[in-house]
Amino acid sequence: MYRTNTCGELRAAAKGQTVTLAGWVQKARKFGGMIFVDLRDRYGITQLVFNQEINAELCDRAAKLGREWVIQVTGVVEERSNKNPNLPTGDIEIIVSQLNVLNASETPPFTIEEETDGGDDLRMKYRYLDLRRANVRANLELRHRMAFATRSYLNDRRFMEIETPVLISSTPEGARDFVVPSRVHPGEFYALPQSPQLFKQLLMVSGFDRYFQIVKCFRDEDLRADRQPEFTQIDCEMSFVQQEDILSIFEGLTKHLFQIVKGIELPDFPRLSYADAMRLYGSDKPDTRFGMTFVEIKDLTEGKNFGVFDSAEYVGAICAPGCAAYTRKQLDELTDFVKRPQIGAKGLVYVRYEADGSLKSSVDKFYSPEDLQRWMDRAGAKPGDLLLVLCGETEKTQKQLSELRLEMGARLGLRDKNQFQCLWVVDFPLLEYDEELKRYFAKHHPFTSPKPEDIPLLDTDPGAVRANAYDLVINGSEVGGGSIRIHDSGLQKKMFQVLGFSEEQAQAQFGFLMNAFQYGAPPHGGIAFGLDRFVSIMAGLDSIRDCIAFPKNNSGKDMMIDAPSTIAQEQLDELHLSIRNV
Ligand code: AMO
Repeated sequence: MYRTNTCGELRAAAKGQTVTLAGWVQKARKFGGMIFVDLRDRYGITQLVFNQEINAELCDRAAKLGREWVIQVTGVVEERSNKNPNLPTGDIEIIVSQLNVLNASETPPFTIEEETDGGDDLRMKYRYLDLRRANVRANLELRHRMAFATRSYLNDRRFMEIETPVLISSTPEGARDFVVPSRVHPGEFYALPQSPQLFKQLLMVSGFDRYFQIVKCFRDEDLRADRQPEFTQIDCEMSFVQQEDILSIFEGLTKHLFQIVKGIELPDFPRLSYADAMRLYGSDKPDTRFGMTFVEIKDLTEGKNFGVFDSAEYVGAICAPGCAAYTRKQLDELTDFVKRPQIGAKGLVYVRYEADGSLKSSVDKFYSPEDLQRWMDRAGAKPGDLLLVLCGETEKTQKQLSELRLEMGARLGLRDKNQFQCLWVVDFPLLEYDEELKRYFAKHHPFTSPKPEDIPLLDTDPGAVRANAYDLVINGSEVGGGSIRIHDSGLQKKMFQVLGFSEEQAQAQFGFLMNAFQYGAPPHGGIAFGLDRFVSIMAGLDSIRDCIAFPKNNSGKDMMIDAPSTIAQEQLDELHLSIRNV
Protein backbone atom coordinates (compact mmCIF):
# COMPACT_ATOMS: atom_id res chain seq x y z
CA MET A 1 0.00 0.00 0.00
CA TYR A 2 1.53 3.31 -1.09
CA ARG A 3 -0.55 5.47 1.23
CA THR A 4 -3.15 5.38 3.95
CA ASN A 5 -4.37 8.91 3.32
CA THR A 6 -4.22 11.67 0.73
CA CYS A 7 -2.42 14.96 1.31
CA GLY A 8 -5.71 16.82 1.60
CA GLU A 9 -7.67 14.96 4.21
CA LEU A 10 -5.98 14.86 7.61
CA ARG A 11 -7.41 17.09 10.33
CA ALA A 12 -6.80 17.57 14.04
CA ALA A 13 -9.08 14.61 14.80
CA ALA A 14 -6.40 12.29 13.36
CA LYS A 15 -3.91 13.35 16.05
CA GLY A 16 -1.76 10.46 17.18
CA GLN A 17 -2.48 8.26 14.14
CA THR A 18 0.38 6.72 12.19
CA VAL A 19 -0.15 7.46 8.51
CA THR A 20 1.61 6.93 5.20
CA LEU A 21 1.39 9.62 2.53
CA ALA A 22 2.80 9.87 -0.99
CA GLY A 23 3.16 12.86 -3.24
CA TRP A 24 5.37 15.59 -4.67
CA VAL A 25 7.68 17.90 -2.74
CA GLN A 26 6.20 21.34 -3.25
CA LYS A 27 8.86 23.03 -1.17
CA ALA A 28 11.25 22.29 1.67
CA ARG A 29 12.60 24.77 4.20
CA LYS A 30 15.12 24.48 7.00
CA PHE A 31 14.37 26.01 10.35
CA GLY A 32 16.95 25.42 13.06
CA GLY A 33 17.27 21.68 13.50
CA MET A 34 14.05 20.97 11.62
CA ILE A 35 13.15 20.55 7.96
CA PHE A 36 9.60 21.33 6.91
CA VAL A 37 8.36 19.87 3.64
CA ASP A 38 5.10 20.70 1.91
CA LEU A 39 3.91 17.43 0.39
CA ARG A 40 1.41 17.84 -2.42
CA ASP A 41 -0.98 15.58 -4.28
CA ARG A 42 -4.22 16.22 -6.16
CA TYR A 43 -6.14 16.56 -2.93
CA GLY A 44 -4.06 19.10 -1.10
CA ILE A 45 -0.89 19.86 0.80
CA THR A 46 0.27 18.39 4.11
CA GLN A 47 3.20 19.63 6.14
CA LEU A 48 5.90 17.08 6.96
CA VAL A 49 8.42 17.60 9.76
CA PHE A 50 11.90 16.07 9.93
CA ASN A 51 13.57 16.65 13.29
CA GLN A 52 17.34 16.52 13.65
CA GLU A 53 17.05 15.69 17.32
CA ILE A 54 14.75 12.73 16.78
CA ASN A 55 16.41 11.21 13.71
CA ALA A 56 19.54 12.90 12.35
CA GLU A 57 20.10 10.44 9.52
CA LEU A 58 16.53 10.91 8.25
CA CYS A 59 16.90 14.66 8.52
CA ASP A 60 20.07 14.57 6.41
CA ARG A 61 18.25 12.62 3.73
CA ALA A 62 15.34 15.06 3.83
CA ALA A 63 17.78 17.95 3.32
CA LYS A 64 18.61 16.49 -0.09
CA LEU A 65 15.01 16.48 -1.34
CA GLY A 66 14.42 18.72 -4.33
CA ARG A 67 11.30 20.37 -5.70
CA GLU A 68 8.89 17.91 -7.37
CA TRP A 69 10.60 14.79 -6.08
CA VAL A 70 8.12 12.00 -5.52
CA ILE A 71 8.30 10.60 -2.00
CA GLN A 72 6.51 8.34 0.40
CA VAL A 73 6.58 9.05 4.12
CA THR A 74 5.30 7.39 7.27
CA GLY A 75 4.85 9.26 10.51
CA VAL A 76 2.55 10.34 13.29
CA VAL A 77 -0.06 13.09 12.97
CA GLU A 78 0.58 15.93 15.41
CA GLU A 79 -1.37 19.07 16.08
CA ARG A 80 0.63 22.10 14.91
CA SER A 81 1.62 24.74 17.38
CA ASN A 82 1.75 27.26 14.53
CA LYS A 83 -1.54 26.61 12.65
CA ASN A 84 -2.05 27.71 9.04
CA PRO A 85 -5.67 28.87 8.57
CA ASN A 86 -5.18 29.07 4.78
CA LEU A 87 -4.73 25.31 4.40
CA PRO A 88 -7.50 22.78 5.08
CA THR A 89 -4.81 20.58 6.65
CA GLY A 90 -3.25 23.59 8.37
CA ASP A 91 -4.01 22.34 11.90
CA ILE A 92 -1.74 19.28 11.65
CA GLU A 93 1.68 18.11 10.56
CA ILE A 94 3.32 14.70 10.20
CA ILE A 95 6.37 13.88 12.33
CA VAL A 96 8.12 11.68 9.80
CA SER A 97 9.81 8.43 10.85
CA GLN A 98 10.33 6.86 7.42
CA LEU A 99 11.21 8.44 4.10
CA ASN A 100 11.20 6.62 0.81
CA VAL A 101 12.23 8.49 -2.33
CA LEU A 102 10.06 7.06 -5.12
CA ASN A 103 11.52 9.25 -7.83
CA ALA A 104 13.84 12.22 -8.12
CA SER A 105 12.96 15.15 -10.36
CA GLU A 106 14.79 17.66 -12.49
CA THR A 107 14.26 21.20 -11.24
CA PRO A 108 11.03 22.24 -12.97
CA PRO A 109 11.29 25.11 -15.49
CA PHE A 110 8.79 27.20 -13.52
CA THR A 111 7.37 27.21 -10.01
CA ILE A 112 4.44 24.89 -9.47
CA GLU A 113 2.41 27.41 -7.52
CA GLU A 114 -0.70 29.44 -8.05
CA GLU A 115 1.31 32.55 -8.94
CA THR A 116 3.88 30.95 -11.19
CA ASP A 117 6.90 32.57 -12.80
CA GLY A 118 6.35 30.61 -16.05
CA GLY A 119 5.21 32.46 -19.19
CA ASP A 120 2.45 31.11 -21.43
CA ASP A 121 4.66 29.32 -23.94
CA LEU A 122 6.79 27.67 -21.29
CA ARG A 123 3.77 26.47 -19.35
CA MET A 124 2.22 25.05 -22.52
CA LYS A 125 5.45 23.26 -23.45
CA TYR A 126 5.46 21.63 -20.01
CA ARG A 127 1.69 21.45 -19.70
CA TYR A 128 1.92 18.26 -17.59
CA LEU A 129 3.72 20.33 -14.96
CA ASP A 130 1.38 23.28 -15.37
CA LEU A 131 -1.48 20.86 -14.66
CA ARG A 132 0.06 20.17 -11.23
CA ARG A 133 -0.81 23.73 -10.19
CA ALA A 134 -3.84 23.79 -7.94
CA ASN A 135 -5.74 26.50 -9.83
CA VAL A 136 -5.30 24.80 -13.22
CA ARG A 137 -6.30 21.47 -11.70
CA ALA A 138 -9.37 23.10 -10.14
CA ASN A 139 -10.55 24.14 -13.60
CA LEU A 140 -10.36 20.56 -14.82
CA GLU A 141 -12.11 19.31 -11.70
CA LEU A 142 -14.91 21.77 -12.37
CA ARG A 143 -15.08 20.61 -15.96
CA HIS A 144 -15.36 17.01 -14.81
CA ARG A 145 -18.14 17.89 -12.37
CA MET A 146 -20.06 19.72 -15.07
CA ALA A 147 -19.73 16.86 -17.55
CA PHE A 148 -20.73 14.35 -14.89
CA ALA A 149 -23.75 16.39 -13.76
CA THR A 150 -24.79 16.86 -17.39
CA ARG A 151 -24.71 13.13 -18.03
CA SER A 152 -26.73 12.47 -14.92
CA TYR A 153 -29.34 15.18 -15.70
CA LEU A 154 -29.81 13.95 -19.25
CA ASN A 155 -29.79 10.27 -18.30
CA ASP A 156 -32.55 11.00 -15.76
CA ARG A 157 -34.58 12.42 -18.64
CA ARG A 158 -34.06 9.37 -20.84
CA PHE A 159 -31.42 10.83 -23.14
CA MET A 160 -29.08 8.16 -24.53
CA GLU A 161 -25.42 8.88 -25.12
CA ILE A 162 -24.56 7.55 -28.56
CA GLU A 163 -21.19 7.90 -30.26
CA THR A 164 -21.06 9.19 -33.80
CA PRO A 165 -18.12 8.81 -36.17
CA VAL A 166 -15.11 11.11 -36.27
CA LEU A 167 -14.00 10.23 -39.78
CA ILE A 168 -16.81 11.62 -41.89
CA SER A 169 -17.17 13.67 -45.04
CA SER A 170 -17.25 17.43 -45.32
CA THR A 171 -20.40 19.21 -44.07
CA PRO A 172 -20.93 22.89 -44.65
CA GLU A 173 -21.38 24.50 -41.24
CA GLY A 174 -19.64 27.76 -41.72
CA ALA A 175 -16.06 26.92 -40.76
CA ARG A 176 -13.40 25.11 -42.73
CA ASP A 177 -13.04 21.36 -42.22
CA PHE A 178 -9.94 19.56 -41.00
CA VAL A 179 -9.37 16.76 -43.49
CA VAL A 180 -7.69 13.38 -43.27
CA PRO A 181 -6.31 11.75 -46.40
CA SER A 182 -7.36 8.20 -47.14
CA ARG A 183 -4.60 5.66 -47.82
CA VAL A 184 -6.97 3.06 -49.26
CA HIS A 185 -8.83 5.48 -51.51
CA PRO A 186 -6.23 7.57 -53.32
CA GLY A 187 -7.16 11.22 -53.68
CA GLU A 188 -10.07 10.93 -51.26
CA PHE A 189 -10.38 12.54 -47.86
CA TYR A 190 -12.32 12.17 -44.68
CA ALA A 191 -13.27 15.30 -42.78
CA LEU A 192 -13.39 15.65 -39.02
CA PRO A 193 -16.87 16.66 -37.82
CA GLN A 194 -17.57 20.32 -37.08
CA SER A 195 -20.45 18.85 -35.09
CA PRO A 196 -22.41 15.58 -35.20
CA GLN A 197 -25.36 17.51 -36.69
CA LEU A 198 -26.37 15.12 -39.48
CA PHE A 199 -25.83 11.99 -37.42
CA LYS A 200 -27.97 13.18 -34.56
CA GLN A 201 -30.76 13.97 -36.99
CA LEU A 202 -30.42 10.49 -38.49
CA LEU A 203 -30.63 9.03 -34.97
CA MET A 204 -34.01 10.75 -34.67
CA VAL A 205 -35.09 9.10 -37.93
CA SER A 206 -33.96 5.82 -36.32
CA GLY A 207 -36.34 6.48 -33.44
CA PHE A 208 -33.88 7.08 -30.58
CA ASP A 209 -36.08 9.96 -29.46
CA ARG A 210 -33.57 11.61 -27.12
CA TYR A 211 -29.85 11.65 -27.88
CA PHE A 212 -26.87 13.35 -26.34
CA GLN A 213 -23.12 13.13 -26.62
CA ILE A 214 -20.27 14.96 -24.97
CA VAL A 215 -18.20 15.08 -28.07
CA LYS A 216 -15.12 16.60 -29.68
CA CYS A 217 -15.78 18.86 -32.66
CA PHE A 218 -13.23 20.28 -35.06
CA ARG A 219 -13.25 23.60 -36.87
CA ASP A 220 -10.43 25.12 -38.84
CA GLU A 221 -11.19 28.74 -38.04
CA ASP A 222 -9.26 31.73 -36.75
CA LEU A 223 -8.55 31.33 -33.06
CA ARG A 224 -9.78 33.64 -30.35
CA ALA A 225 -9.95 33.51 -26.57
CA ASP A 226 -13.25 31.61 -26.81
CA ARG A 227 -12.33 29.37 -29.74
CA GLN A 228 -10.16 26.30 -30.14
CA PRO A 229 -9.72 24.20 -33.29
CA GLU A 230 -10.89 21.18 -31.32
CA PHE A 231 -13.47 21.80 -28.66
CA THR A 232 -16.18 19.89 -26.87
CA GLN A 233 -19.93 20.10 -27.31
CA ILE A 234 -22.72 18.83 -25.15
CA ASP A 235 -24.67 17.83 -28.23
CA CYS A 236 -28.37 16.98 -27.95
CA GLU A 237 -31.34 16.15 -30.12
CA MET A 238 -34.98 15.34 -29.35
CA SER A 239 -37.97 14.07 -31.31
CA PHE A 240 -41.60 15.15 -31.14
CA VAL A 241 -40.74 18.50 -29.64
CA GLN A 242 -41.29 22.15 -30.30
CA GLN A 243 -38.91 24.99 -29.51
CA GLU A 244 -40.55 25.49 -26.14
CA ASP A 245 -39.80 21.88 -25.05
CA ILE A 246 -36.13 22.25 -25.91
CA LEU A 247 -35.75 25.62 -24.19
CA SER A 248 -37.40 24.21 -21.09
CA ILE A 249 -35.21 21.07 -20.81
CA PHE A 250 -31.98 22.96 -21.47
CA GLU A 251 -32.81 25.93 -19.31
CA GLY A 252 -33.32 23.21 -16.71
CA LEU A 253 -29.89 21.74 -17.44
CA THR A 254 -28.24 25.15 -17.17
CA LYS A 255 -29.94 25.90 -13.85
CA HIS A 256 -29.03 22.42 -12.60
CA LEU A 257 -25.35 22.97 -13.42
CA PHE A 258 -25.27 26.38 -11.73
CA GLN A 259 -26.93 24.86 -8.71
CA ILE A 260 -24.54 21.91 -8.47
CA VAL A 261 -21.34 23.72 -9.33
CA LYS A 262 -21.84 27.19 -7.89
CA GLY A 263 -24.72 26.67 -5.48
CA ILE A 264 -26.62 29.42 -7.32
CA GLU A 265 -30.38 29.26 -7.93
CA LEU A 266 -30.95 31.10 -11.19
CA PRO A 267 -34.28 32.78 -11.97
CA ASP A 268 -36.09 31.94 -15.23
CA PHE A 269 -34.12 33.09 -18.26
CA PRO A 270 -35.43 36.13 -20.12
CA ARG A 271 -35.97 35.82 -23.87
CA LEU A 272 -34.97 38.39 -26.37
CA SER A 273 -35.68 38.31 -30.10
CA TYR A 274 -32.69 38.64 -32.38
CA ALA A 275 -34.18 41.89 -33.71
CA ASP A 276 -34.46 43.37 -30.20
CA ALA A 277 -30.99 42.13 -29.27
CA MET A 278 -29.55 44.01 -32.23
CA ARG A 279 -31.68 47.10 -31.59
CA LEU A 280 -30.91 47.32 -27.87
CA TYR A 281 -27.40 45.88 -27.65
CA GLY A 282 -26.08 45.72 -31.23
CA SER A 283 -25.16 42.10 -30.59
CA ASP A 284 -26.81 38.69 -30.81
CA LYS A 285 -24.99 37.75 -27.62
CA PRO A 286 -25.55 40.70 -25.34
CA ASP A 287 -23.91 40.93 -21.95
CA THR A 288 -26.96 41.64 -19.79
CA ARG A 289 -25.09 41.98 -16.51
CA PHE A 290 -25.56 45.71 -17.04
CA GLY A 291 -28.04 48.00 -18.82
CA MET A 292 -26.74 50.86 -20.95
CA THR A 293 -29.06 49.79 -23.78
CA PHE A 294 -29.05 51.74 -27.04
CA VAL A 295 -31.34 54.64 -27.75
CA GLU A 296 -31.93 55.83 -31.30
CA ILE A 297 -31.91 59.59 -31.64
CA LYS A 298 -31.72 60.08 -35.41
CA ASP A 299 -35.11 61.85 -35.49
CA LEU A 300 -34.02 64.24 -32.72
CA THR A 301 -30.78 65.21 -34.47
CA GLU A 302 -32.12 66.07 -37.89
CA GLY A 303 -32.29 69.47 -39.54
CA LYS A 304 -29.70 71.30 -37.42
CA ASN A 305 -27.08 71.47 -40.15
CA PHE A 306 -24.85 68.82 -38.61
CA GLY A 307 -24.04 67.01 -41.82
CA VAL A 308 -22.46 63.98 -40.15
CA PHE A 309 -25.70 63.07 -38.37
CA ASP A 310 -27.97 64.30 -41.16
CA SER A 311 -26.35 61.98 -43.69
CA ALA A 312 -26.17 58.98 -41.34
CA GLU A 313 -28.66 56.15 -41.62
CA TYR A 314 -28.51 55.61 -37.85
CA VAL A 315 -27.65 57.77 -34.87
CA GLY A 316 -27.52 55.82 -31.62
CA ALA A 317 -26.39 56.52 -28.09
CA ILE A 318 -25.63 54.89 -24.78
CA CYS A 319 -25.87 56.60 -21.45
CA ALA A 320 -22.87 55.94 -19.19
CA PRO A 321 -24.07 56.48 -15.64
CA GLY A 322 -22.02 58.82 -13.48
CA CYS A 323 -19.44 59.55 -16.18
CA ALA A 324 -20.15 63.25 -16.81
CA ALA A 325 -16.92 64.12 -15.03
CA TYR A 326 -14.81 62.17 -17.54
CA THR A 327 -11.71 64.19 -18.36
CA ARG A 328 -10.67 65.28 -21.81
CA LYS A 329 -8.07 62.51 -21.69
CA GLN A 330 -10.63 59.85 -20.86
CA LEU A 331 -12.90 61.04 -23.68
CA ASP A 332 -9.95 61.01 -26.09
CA GLU A 333 -9.21 57.44 -25.02
CA LEU A 334 -12.78 56.44 -25.82
CA THR A 335 -12.58 58.19 -29.18
CA ASP A 336 -9.35 56.34 -29.96
CA PHE A 337 -11.03 53.12 -28.84
CA VAL A 338 -13.93 53.41 -31.29
CA LYS A 339 -11.60 54.56 -34.08
CA ARG A 340 -9.37 51.48 -33.81
CA PRO A 341 -9.40 49.57 -37.10
CA GLN A 342 -11.07 46.54 -35.41
CA ILE A 343 -14.01 48.77 -34.50
CA GLY A 344 -13.86 51.30 -37.30
CA ALA A 345 -16.00 54.24 -36.15
CA LYS A 346 -15.17 57.64 -37.63
CA GLY A 347 -15.60 59.55 -34.39
CA LEU A 348 -17.44 59.85 -31.13
CA VAL A 349 -19.85 62.55 -30.00
CA TYR A 350 -20.44 63.09 -26.30
CA VAL A 351 -22.84 65.07 -24.15
CA ARG A 352 -22.05 65.72 -20.49
CA TYR A 353 -25.05 66.08 -18.20
CA GLU A 354 -23.36 68.15 -15.51
CA ALA A 355 -24.34 67.77 -11.88
CA ASP A 356 -25.92 71.26 -11.98
CA GLY A 357 -28.20 70.15 -14.84
CA SER A 358 -26.34 72.02 -17.61
CA LEU A 359 -25.36 70.22 -20.80
CA LYS A 360 -21.99 70.34 -22.57
CA SER A 361 -21.33 68.47 -25.76
CA SER A 362 -18.79 68.11 -28.53
CA VAL A 363 -21.50 69.35 -30.95
CA ASP A 364 -22.59 72.52 -29.10
CA LYS A 365 -22.13 74.44 -32.36
CA PHE A 366 -25.09 72.64 -33.88
CA TYR A 367 -27.40 71.79 -31.01
CA SER A 368 -29.00 74.01 -28.40
CA PRO A 369 -29.30 72.91 -24.76
CA GLU A 370 -32.99 72.20 -25.47
CA ASP A 371 -32.03 69.90 -28.37
CA LEU A 372 -29.52 68.06 -26.18
CA GLN A 373 -32.03 67.83 -23.36
CA ARG A 374 -34.35 65.88 -25.67
CA TRP A 375 -31.59 63.36 -26.34
CA MET A 376 -30.96 63.04 -22.64
CA ASP A 377 -34.63 62.58 -21.86
CA ARG A 378 -34.94 59.81 -24.41
CA ALA A 379 -31.91 58.08 -22.91
CA GLY A 380 -33.34 58.44 -19.42
CA ALA A 381 -30.14 60.25 -18.39
CA LYS A 382 -29.71 61.95 -15.02
CA PRO A 383 -27.39 64.77 -13.98
CA GLY A 384 -23.93 63.26 -13.68
CA ASP A 385 -24.35 60.96 -16.71
CA LEU A 386 -22.50 60.97 -19.99
CA LEU A 387 -24.14 60.31 -23.35
CA LEU A 388 -21.93 58.71 -26.01
CA VAL A 389 -23.21 58.92 -29.59
CA LEU A 390 -22.13 57.09 -32.75
CA CYS A 391 -23.58 57.35 -36.22
CA GLY A 392 -23.36 55.73 -39.63
CA GLU A 393 -24.78 52.74 -41.43
CA THR A 394 -27.23 50.96 -39.09
CA GLU A 395 -25.73 47.49 -38.71
CA LYS A 396 -22.11 48.66 -38.61
CA THR A 397 -22.84 51.43 -36.12
CA GLN A 398 -24.79 49.12 -33.83
CA LYS A 399 -21.79 46.78 -33.75
CA GLN A 400 -19.46 49.68 -32.94
CA LEU A 401 -21.79 50.95 -30.25
CA SER A 402 -21.91 47.41 -28.85
CA GLU A 403 -18.11 47.40 -28.49
CA LEU A 404 -18.23 50.81 -26.82
CA ARG A 405 -20.96 49.58 -24.46
CA LEU A 406 -18.85 46.57 -23.46
CA GLU A 407 -15.81 48.81 -22.96
CA MET A 408 -17.80 51.17 -20.74
CA GLY A 409 -19.25 48.19 -18.84
CA ALA A 410 -15.70 46.97 -18.18
CA ARG A 411 -14.44 50.44 -17.20
CA LEU A 412 -17.30 50.84 -14.76
CA GLY A 413 -16.71 47.39 -13.27
CA LEU A 414 -20.14 46.18 -14.36
CA ARG A 415 -18.90 42.91 -15.87
CA ASP A 416 -18.45 41.08 -12.62
CA LYS A 417 -17.25 37.49 -13.10
CA ASN A 418 -19.16 36.35 -10.06
CA GLN A 419 -22.46 37.49 -11.45
CA PHE A 420 -24.27 35.37 -14.03
CA GLN A 421 -26.94 36.57 -16.44
CA CYS A 422 -28.39 33.96 -18.76
CA LEU A 423 -30.80 34.64 -21.57
CA TRP A 424 -32.25 33.04 -24.67
CA VAL A 425 -31.91 34.89 -27.93
CA VAL A 426 -34.69 33.62 -30.22
CA ASP A 427 -36.16 34.24 -33.68
CA PHE A 428 -32.87 34.40 -35.53
CA PRO A 429 -33.06 35.17 -39.23
CA LEU A 430 -32.96 31.96 -41.24
CA LEU A 431 -30.59 33.35 -43.84
CA GLU A 432 -27.77 35.80 -44.13
CA TYR A 433 -26.88 37.58 -47.38
CA ASP A 434 -23.25 37.60 -48.43
CA GLU A 435 -22.68 40.84 -50.31
CA GLU A 436 -19.44 39.61 -51.88
CA LEU A 437 -20.69 36.24 -53.07
CA LYS A 438 -24.16 37.64 -53.81
CA ARG A 439 -25.99 34.73 -52.28
CA TYR A 440 -27.74 33.66 -49.11
CA PHE A 441 -26.11 31.48 -46.48
CA ALA A 442 -27.83 29.63 -43.64
CA LYS A 443 -27.37 31.67 -40.48
CA HIS A 444 -27.37 28.54 -38.28
CA HIS A 445 -27.16 25.60 -40.68
CA PRO A 446 -29.16 24.43 -43.71
CA PHE A 447 -31.31 22.03 -41.65
CA THR A 448 -32.87 24.74 -39.50
CA SER A 449 -36.60 25.13 -39.89
CA PRO A 450 -38.13 28.45 -40.88
CA LYS A 451 -41.01 29.67 -38.74
CA PRO A 452 -44.05 28.13 -40.47
CA GLU A 453 -45.71 31.52 -40.87
CA ASP A 454 -42.63 32.86 -42.67
CA ILE A 455 -42.30 30.01 -45.20
CA PRO A 456 -44.09 31.93 -47.99
CA LEU A 457 -41.42 34.65 -47.68
CA LEU A 458 -38.80 32.13 -48.88
CA ASP A 459 -39.93 32.98 -52.43
CA THR A 460 -40.44 36.71 -52.05
CA ASP A 461 -38.12 38.03 -49.34
CA PRO A 462 -35.78 35.29 -48.07
CA GLY A 463 -33.83 37.72 -45.88
CA ALA A 464 -36.94 38.39 -43.78
CA VAL A 465 -37.62 34.74 -42.96
CA ARG A 466 -37.19 34.00 -39.26
CA ALA A 467 -35.97 30.64 -38.03
CA ASN A 468 -36.98 28.44 -35.16
CA ALA A 469 -33.47 28.91 -33.85
CA TYR A 470 -32.19 29.95 -30.45
CA ASP A 471 -28.96 30.66 -28.61
CA LEU A 472 -28.20 30.45 -24.92
CA VAL A 473 -26.14 33.49 -23.94
CA ILE A 474 -24.40 33.83 -20.60
CA ASN A 475 -22.58 37.05 -19.67
CA GLY A 476 -22.22 38.03 -23.31
CA SER A 477 -20.89 34.69 -24.48
CA GLU A 478 -22.72 32.33 -26.82
CA VAL A 479 -22.72 29.15 -24.78
CA GLY A 480 -25.22 27.15 -26.80
CA GLY A 481 -27.17 27.19 -30.01
CA GLY A 482 -29.73 25.05 -31.73
CA SER A 483 -32.89 24.89 -33.74
CA ILE A 484 -35.98 22.99 -34.70
CA ARG A 485 -35.08 21.10 -37.86
CA ILE A 486 -36.74 20.71 -41.19
CA HIS A 487 -38.14 17.16 -41.25
CA ASP A 488 -39.90 17.38 -44.56
CA SER A 489 -37.76 16.46 -47.56
CA GLY A 490 -39.73 18.85 -49.79
CA LEU A 491 -39.00 21.84 -47.57
CA GLN A 492 -35.38 20.73 -47.19
CA LYS A 493 -35.06 20.65 -51.00
CA LYS A 494 -36.52 24.14 -51.17
CA MET A 495 -34.03 25.33 -48.58
CA PHE A 496 -31.12 23.97 -50.62
CA GLN A 497 -32.52 25.80 -53.64
CA VAL A 498 -32.65 29.11 -51.75
CA LEU A 499 -29.05 28.48 -50.65
CA GLY A 500 -28.06 28.14 -54.28
CA PHE A 501 -27.37 24.38 -54.32
CA SER A 502 -28.17 22.67 -57.61
CA GLU A 503 -30.24 19.50 -57.30
CA GLU A 504 -27.10 17.45 -58.06
CA GLN A 505 -24.98 19.29 -55.46
CA ALA A 506 -27.64 18.84 -52.81
CA GLN A 507 -27.97 15.15 -53.71
CA ALA A 508 -24.19 14.62 -53.67
CA GLN A 509 -23.69 16.28 -50.27
CA PHE A 510 -26.86 15.49 -48.42
CA GLY A 511 -28.52 12.75 -50.47
CA PHE A 512 -28.38 10.36 -47.53
CA LEU A 513 -30.22 12.83 -45.29
CA MET A 514 -32.91 13.61 -47.84
CA ASN A 515 -33.32 9.91 -48.53
CA ALA A 516 -33.61 9.20 -44.82
CA PHE A 517 -36.27 11.88 -44.53
CA GLN A 518 -38.39 9.87 -46.97
CA TYR A 519 -38.64 7.05 -44.45
CA GLY A 520 -40.65 8.73 -41.75
CA ALA A 521 -38.58 11.46 -40.13
CA PRO A 522 -40.21 12.65 -36.90
CA PRO A 523 -40.45 16.34 -36.09
CA HIS A 524 -37.24 17.03 -34.18
CA GLY A 525 -34.88 19.67 -32.90
CA GLY A 526 -31.86 20.09 -30.70
CA ILE A 527 -29.12 22.19 -29.28
CA ALA A 528 -25.40 22.04 -28.59
CA PHE A 529 -23.59 23.72 -25.72
CA GLY A 530 -19.92 24.59 -25.94
CA LEU A 531 -18.62 22.80 -22.85
CA ASP A 532 -15.31 24.67 -22.83
CA ARG A 533 -17.06 28.04 -22.91
CA PHE A 534 -19.53 26.98 -20.27
CA VAL A 535 -16.78 25.81 -17.93
CA SER A 536 -14.68 28.91 -18.49
CA ILE A 537 -17.61 31.17 -17.59
CA MET A 538 -18.35 29.16 -14.45
CA ALA A 539 -14.68 29.32 -13.49
CA GLY A 540 -14.37 33.02 -14.36
CA LEU A 541 -11.58 32.39 -16.90
CA ASP A 542 -10.54 34.78 -19.64
CA SER A 543 -9.74 32.03 -22.13
CA ILE A 544 -11.25 28.59 -22.75
CA ARG A 545 -7.66 27.29 -22.97
CA ASP A 546 -7.47 27.31 -19.20
CA CYS A 547 -10.14 24.64 -18.81
CA ILE A 548 -8.73 22.32 -21.49
CA ALA A 549 -6.12 19.81 -20.35
CA PHE A 550 -3.97 20.01 -23.47
CA PRO A 551 -5.03 23.05 -25.49
CA LYS A 552 -3.62 24.55 -28.68
CA ASN A 553 -1.97 27.95 -28.55
CA ASN A 554 -3.08 31.08 -30.41
CA SER A 555 -1.69 29.82 -33.69
CA GLY A 556 -3.31 26.41 -33.35
CA LYS A 557 -0.13 24.65 -32.22
CA ASP A 558 0.32 22.15 -29.44
CA MET A 559 3.67 23.32 -28.05
CA MET A 560 4.18 20.20 -25.99
CA ILE A 561 3.92 17.53 -28.66
CA ASP A 562 4.83 19.97 -31.44
CA ALA A 563 1.74 19.48 -33.56
CA PRO A 564 1.07 20.01 -36.37
CA SER A 565 4.35 18.65 -37.73
CA THR A 566 5.78 17.37 -40.96
CA ILE A 567 5.56 13.68 -41.83
CA ALA A 568 8.02 11.38 -43.53
CA GLN A 569 8.13 11.10 -47.32
CA GLU A 570 7.10 7.41 -47.07
CA GLN A 571 4.00 8.37 -45.16
CA LEU A 572 3.18 11.01 -47.75
CA ASP A 573 3.69 8.49 -50.53
CA GLU A 574 1.43 5.98 -48.82
CA LEU A 575 -1.25 8.66 -48.61
CA HIS A 576 -0.75 9.62 -52.24
CA LEU A 577 0.13 13.17 -51.23
CA SER A 578 2.78 15.47 -52.53
CA ILE A 579 3.75 18.68 -50.79
CA ARG A 580 4.35 21.71 -52.91
CA ASN A 581 7.01 24.07 -51.56
CA VAL A 582 5.31 26.37 -49.09
P1 AMO B 1 -22.91 25.92 -33.07
O1 AMO B 1 -22.05 26.05 -34.27
O2 AMO B 1 -23.65 27.14 -32.61
O3 AMO B 1 -24.04 24.83 -33.28
O4 AMO B 1 -22.02 25.36 -31.89
C1 AMO B 1 -22.57 25.11 -30.61
C2 AMO B 1 -21.71 25.72 -29.52
O5 AMO B 1 -20.38 25.24 -29.60
C3 AMO B 1 -19.48 26.23 -29.11
N1 AMO B 1 -18.42 26.46 -30.12
C4 AMO B 1 -17.11 26.53 -29.84
N2 AMO B 1 -16.44 26.45 -28.69
C5 AMO B 1 -15.09 26.54 -28.72
N3 AMO B 1 -14.38 26.68 -29.85
C6 AMO B 1 -14.99 26.76 -31.06
N4 AMO B 1 -14.26 26.88 -32.17
C7 AMO B 1 -16.43 26.70 -31.08
N5 AMO B 1 -17.36 26.73 -32.06
C8 AMO B 1 -18.56 26.60 -31.47
C9 AMO B 1 -20.28 27.48 -28.85
C10 AMO B 1 -21.55 27.22 -29.63
O6 AMO B 1 -22.68 27.88 -29.08
N6 AMO B 1 -24.80 21.57 -34.71
C11 AMO B 1 -25.14 22.84 -34.12
C12 AMO B 1 -25.98 22.71 -32.87
C13 AMO B 1 -27.43 22.35 -33.14
O7 AMO B 1 -28.05 22.95 -34.04
O8 AMO B 1 -27.94 21.49 -32.42
C14 AMO B 1 -23.84 23.56 -33.77
O9 AMO B 1 -22.75 23.03 -33.83
O10 AMO B 1 -20.56 27.56 -27.47
